[in-house]
Amino acid sequence: MPTKPVPVLTIDGPSGSGKGTISQLVADQLGWHLLDSGALYRAVGYAAGAAGLDLSDEEAMARCAQTTKIRFSVPGDGGETRVIVNGHDATDELRTETAGAAASAIAAFPGVRSALFDKQKGFRKAPGLVADGRDMGTVIFPDAGHKVFLTASAEERARRRYKQLKDKGLNVTLAALLREIQARDERDASRTVAPLRPAVDALTIDTTGIPVAGVVAAVLSVVRPA
Ligand code: DC
Repeated sequence: MPTKPVPVLTIDGPSGSGKGTISQLVADQLGWHLLDSGALYRAVGYAAGAAGLDLSDEEAMARCAQTTKIRFSVPGDGGETRVIVNGHDATDELRTETAGAAASAIAAFPGVRSALFDKQKGFRKAPGLVADGRDMGTVIFPDAGHKVFLTASAEERARRRYKQLKDKGLNVTLAALLREIQARDERDASRTVAPLRPAVDALTIDTTGIPVAGVVAAVLSVVRPA
């Protein structure tokens, strides 16, 4: 008898669309595993920087993606997941704008994307997976039974990011964040491999002005229709 594939919910969208927060909450509610695919690209960019490699050298970046050891450490007490890169807890470094920009740059290289392909597929384990990223529904899990694409205006995304970074005590300006977000959107959407776009069978949810609980409810209703 054929076995039923492990269910997958893909949550794609641009940076600041709320994917990270929503994916974590939805995964908790469903009791499913979570794949934060952006963290993998950030980890490779971080490892490359730490090794003093040239981020524009495609071959070196592809090799770095193949050899970097990335581990997610999920604390039993419901605390935040730590990302261990080549044995070092790099969670805090990975959250910075610099790490995001490095990730976006190296993510445009096909060799980097293919090096991370199987690793991402490996997260599909029972009872289910919530996969957060840019190409989860289009490239990594095209057969997923549930697909969502989250968006929000660039201004709203910049405001959310501003608040997050200010809360952490970082010195940033709203105008600079807006420019950074627009540049990143442009790079992620215009690259030739796995550009950022909704899967044809994804439900697009515009989260501008919608409270987190409302977005979580909308996403959950895709998995468990009323
Ligand atoms: O979601 P994030 O901000 O952590 O992602 C960082 C960068 O990594 C993003 O700008 C583009 C890249 N990325 C990608 O190309 N594909 C993914 N599935 C996830 C992230």
